[in-house]
Amino acid sequence: EAAEKGGYPHFVIKEINEQPDALRRALTGRIRDGQLHLPEMERIEHAGLLNGIQRIIVVACGTSYHVGMLAKYAIEKWARIPVEAITAAEFRYSDPIVGPETLCIAITQSGETADTLVGIRQAREHGAPVIAITNIVSSAITRLADAVLYLQAGPEIGVVATKSFVSSVAVLYLLGLYLGQERGRINPEQMQEFLEALEILPEQIQQILDHANSEHDTIEPLARRMADLKSIMFIGRGVGYPTALEGALKLKEISYIHAEGFPAGELKHGSIALLDPETPLVGIATASHVYEKVLSNIQEVRARDAHVIVVATAGDERIKQHANDIMYVPATLEMFSPLLASVPLQLFAYHVAVARNCNVDQPRNLAKSVTVE
Ligand code: AGP
Repeated sequence: EAAEKGGYPHFVIKEINEQPDALRRALTGRIRDGQLHLPEMERIEHAGLLNGIQRIIVVACGTSYHVGMLAKYAIEKWARIPVEAITAAEFRYSDPIVGPETLCIAITQSGETADTLVGIRQAREHGAPVIAITNIVSSAITRLADAVLYLQAGPEIGVVATKSFVSSVAVLYLLGLYLGQERGRINPEQMQEFLEALEILPEQIQQILDHANSEHDTIEPLARRMADLKSIMFIGRGVGYPTALEGALKLKEISYIHAEGFPAGELKHGSIALLDPETPLVGIATASHVYEKVLSNIQEVRARDAHVIVVATAGDERIKQHANDIMYVPATLEMFSPLLASVPLQLFAYHVAVARNCNVDQPRNLAKSVTVE
């Protein structure tokens, strides 16, 4: 097992560090000569399965559901097709309105999550075309799909999804860009800009990891200071919101600290009541069209004496006066920011869990693949 961990103390940290390569593999062959190539999609397009698509439903659980939430932001923006993301366990019992005009996208790393499989089988029975995004070749979901987009992330042994999150987001975004292009909503120059930004993401993740693995790291010392926490909140807006949910899920899964994610604008509708000097808040404040709004939420929180940790874009000096701790990530396009912002949050969760002596690879009560309801 030590050999399988490749010199790392745990699979989770190995897999976090594998993210640049995993992401490269997700993009390999799909971006060539500045153009997007998704042969799997071209095939179902030629078969006429995408004709008349009026809406998209994304069905997934856990981390994969957070990827599904990002699908709403990305596909609606790029292709102007309405998207609904729903957790599979809710979808399957909701008597969903689906038919041939509803494209269903299943996101499942394992390809074996029971609720996702049942939900997608129902959608198929109603005539909905299905695209599966999965990491596992020939998994059960692939037999229910008209097209399969593989992550090619390599095996993920840690129960918590890390590299599969980043790879799923990348593959889903490629799908979103494909749909935008087919709908004539993305012109070649815009496409080039998107693809160039995507192609440098592996290197940008590497920069985050290199910094974290160096003597300049601030994440592990912060995590050690936070190891005795009872509760912590995560906020974000836009694509920062699913990023906040994912950061909270990572932390609660492996450190057993109560962590909750919220849309930042919802804070004052209730959750702000929870804040006190013992309950820190993590704000996702990377560069975006809602940056100022997030900043004003952070100011409100700080006024309650809560400890504020912020994920911000490199070069953002202004944020310094509003945060107690900052995790910087390189600059990218707003839509791609979750791919970078999630990495320090994974590292934070990992180091908090290690400081608490938790079993980070096999957290209590959790299974890698939830094959029963
Ligand atoms: C992620 O850290 C979790 N372990 C869990 O939420 C997971 O993402 C969920 O069970 C879905 O799994 P899947 O992607 O294999 O379907």
